[in-house]
Amino acid sequence: MQHLTSLIPWNQDDLLGLLALSRRVKADPRAWSTALQGKSLGMIFEKSSTRTRVSFEVGMTQLGGHALFLSKSDIQLGRGETIEDTARVLSRFVDGIMARVYAQDTIERLTVATVPVINGLSDMYHPCQALADLQTVQEHRGALAGQVLTYVGDGNNVAHSLMIAGSRAGMTVRIAHPEGYAPSPEVVAACEGQPGRVELYTDPRVAVTGADAVYTDVWASMGQEAEQAERARTFAPFQVNEALFALAKPDAIFLHCLPAHRGEEVTDGVVDHPRSAVLDQAENRMHAQKALLLHLMGGVPLQAER
Ligand code: CP
Ligand code: NVA
Repeated sequence: MQHLTSLIPWNQDDLLGLLALSRRVKADPRAWSTALQGKSLGMIFEKSSTRTRVSFEVGMTQLGGHALFLSKSDIQLGRGETIEDTARVLSRFVDGIMARVYAQDTIERLTVATVPVINGLSDMYHPCQALADLQTVQEHRGALAGQVLTYVGDGNNVAHSLMIAGSRAGMTVRIAHPEGYAPSPEVVAACEGQPGRVELYTDPRVAVTGADAVYTDVWASMGQEAEQAERARTFAPFQVNEALFALAKPDAIFLHCLPAHRGEEVTDGVVDHPRSAVLDQAENRMHAQKALLLHLMGGVPLQAER
């Protein structure tokens, strides 16, 4: 694997291998404390971030390397320097590039870089999030194959990456969405022929019934602020509240990529529930990304453990 623009090229062994490495890194972080010594990661941000920025920066430090925060508005990219020129120039200084962008095309254009490029969220995908999500399900629920994960809400970047990762890991990923907010048909097609599968629902109660994990995300993503009010009305029946969560398995976990809009897509009672795993999930961003950085920038091979 040279870049991580999306998880579409990954197979079950790649994913399980990344998760196995992430578990090793989490269990014994000191063993990897010089693995990326002298290496730098350039982090381009067109959008806000708490978890992605901090987990990549701290992760690089813990691996003995260094990360640079490059806000689009502070670098020449914001004044018209092309994405390709930025990628080629950064390649002469840094050993990897992580970018959080609007258009997926921006990530694809960055791959003219001669160093690995990592998608830290685009309007289309959030692959690093999905890696942490699967690690969290594994920790709380065991082997991924056969697990039912229900995502309730917008067929957005987070949903797309969950569908891609979950289907490759052998899970059943159910998506419950309002009419008009289905995931991209292109992503649905990319999940066919995999060990697991994707199922689409418009009734959240049917989709959540018997699930091992229930997941939601904001109704209006970054860049969709103008649609907030209309979306709040449309998505109201899709709120993950205590009544909906109670339809999942009695030991099901709740997941959310965060940030949460409490009282909108999820109630306090669910996000703060004893079976909410959202903080483990946030922490796992760092472990999974350290594994990814070790693989892409440090040449550490991925070996699947089933
Ligand atoms: N989940 C996630 O990507 O969070 P940030 O937007 O804070 O990075
Ligand atoms: N779907 C959200 C995820 C934030 C981590 C967004 O793109 O804003």
